[in-house]
Amino acid sequence: MCGIVGYVGNDKAINILLKGLSALEYRGYDSAGVSIKVNNGINTVKTKGRIMDLASLIIEEQIDLSGNIGIGHTRWATHGIPSTLNAHPHYTDSVSVVHNGIIENYRELEEFLKKKNIYKKTDTDTEIIALLIDMFLKKFKPKEAFEKAVAKLEGSFSIAAIFKETDTIMLAKKDSPLVIGIGRHATYTASDISALIDHTNKFIFLEDGDIAFIDKENIKILDHSRKSIKREIKTIDWSMESAKKGGYKHFMIKEIAEEAEAVRNTIQSRIDANGNIYLNDEINMDESFLKNIDGITIVACGTSYYAGFSAKTVLEKFTEVPVNVEIASEFRYSEPIFSKHNLFIVISQSGETADTKESLKFAKSKRIKTISIVNVKESAIARMADTCIYTLAGPEISVASTKAFVSQLSVLYMLAFYIGKLKGKKIDKELSMLLKLPGIMEKTFKMTNDRIKTVAEKYHPYKNFLYIGRGLMYPIALEGALKLKEISYIHAEGYPAGEMKHGPIALIDENTPSVIISPDKEPFYSKTLSNAEEIKARSGKIIMLSDKNSDMVDDFIELEEIEYDFSPFIYVIPLQLLAYYIALYLGYDIDQPRNLAKSVTVE
Ligand code: M6R
Repeated sequence: MCGIVGYVGNDKAINILLKGLSALEYRGYDSAGVSIKVNNGINTVKTKGRIMDLASLIIEEQIDLSGNIGIGHTRWATHGIPSTLNAHPHYTDSVSVVHNGIIENYRELEEFLKKKNIYKKTDTDTEIIALLIDMFLKKFKPKEAFEKAVAKLEGSFSIAAIFKETDTIMLAKKDSPLVIGIGRHATYTASDISALIDHTNKFIFLEDGDIAFIDKENIKILDHSRKSIKREIKTIDWSMESAKKGGYKHFMIKEIAEEAEAVRNTIQSRIDANGNIYLNDEINMDESFLKNIDGITIVACGTSYYAGFSAKTVLEKFTEVPVNVEIASEFRYSEPIFSKHNLFIVISQSGETADTKESLKFAKSKRIKTISIVNVKESAIARMADTCIYTLAGPEISVASTKAFVSQLSVLYMLAFYIGKLKGKKIDKELSMLLKLPGIMEKTFKMTNDRIKTVAEKYHPYKNFLYIGRGLMYPIALEGALKLKEISYIHAEGYPAGEMKHGPIALIDENTPSVIISPDKEPFYSKTLSNAEEIKARSGKIIMLSDKNSDMVDDFIELEEIEYDFSPFIYVIPLQLLAYYIALYLGYDIDQPRNLAKSVTVE
């Protein structure tokens, strides 16, 4: 999704903006631009395409961008096609604006401006913000003009604006993230801390409704009632190193290789081999409430949803209550019936996903107790839920989520064991298994990496794939299929293996390979082999992931034998690798697949 960077200080803004925008590339975008304040006004350069294209254009056009105050943007089109015209910043002679989010009342505002003979030139909703501010600037000083324009906006937005008349960058935030970075004689802003972690580790996270005025020495924040307010300065310990590729060709493969470590980091300070789980402080809910919950609702999107779905079985087994796992974009508009003592869990890597956030708001409005499982520190969802259990996966840059998935799963398992223990269940065996997992995951990566490369080379020309599994492997089949379609643009369907004969079997022929995911666990293994027979009888090719081979399959991927409940953690690894290597053979942009964004902050 769109990204914002802003700088005011003593250095040349353009270098800081371009570097910050490059750090935001992973979020997905189609155009980029910058505006810099110079002696006689504001200069803007923008283009459709990549930051590299923007940098070349800046050199080509030789426009003066030597100033110390500026804003930059990467755009992911919502209103209007990706084009240079629609790229941000949007500007007039007096002000230049970048914006993330959606201005829902932009049509009304457009009509309002037309009546004053003010017309927009682009297809965007953002230009309206620049035009409104400009209109108010005719009567008011910049700060007042900015406040008045923001007051007219509905929808979600994070906005940064620079002005011809002042050296202050003005910010506004509602339902879309915006942070202020504090440097020495310099102040930064960005939609995402990864744009700034090279410059500072001190951040202020603006709250919904805030307006802020920043210059190189001062930060002034007004809350939603326009009262001056001090927001806490937080120190964030993410290093830039962990957000770099570290010798890997793509972030995705680096992040798959880091999965064992991500799980280790997530569990190691929270459990021990003596059957202890140290989650009390993080969960911060009455033990009696947790013992008496009568239902769990999990809401999330995409891979985070599949993490919830994968953990459902173990959660039900240990909490002994029904667990409903819902897709956030559906849930937020449904009329859910919560059980009397429901526990509501949202899962989100980014902590900014609009649908998940709205679902959380809804649950809170019903006074349901809420827990978020989030990777990005201090993100909106992390702060909004009653309590947050962070996955300690480190920054996940590739759009295709991998290490976040296994980390989310590990938190959900710990939660299951924690509530199970409160209810009197023995969990020592499970905890020691959880502690062994990172080692087994490391081994799985090593065991399967080269084998999957070979399999991917053979199968990358196919246009359709079927992924099937039973029990715990059904959600893993869904996640494997999602990974393949996201980065290789190959059509892939995940299905419960038993459902094959009710429809998808019609797809099977020599051109549609099936990926069968089946650890040797009865009755699933033998039943899934019957599916393999049916596929073979229709000349379908089979790739099988299991700890037990079968002569029926074309390509066998051997996995470690593991306690069945923990199999999702290791079976997902070769599926992520398969998607990665197929996309690699096809020559696609793996970390930034077309049409996708890392954090989906709009509906
Ligand atoms: O940041 P979130 O976990 O809330 O994101 C949810 C989905 O958008 C995300 O998992 C998406 O499906 C990924 N691209 C999957 O690889």
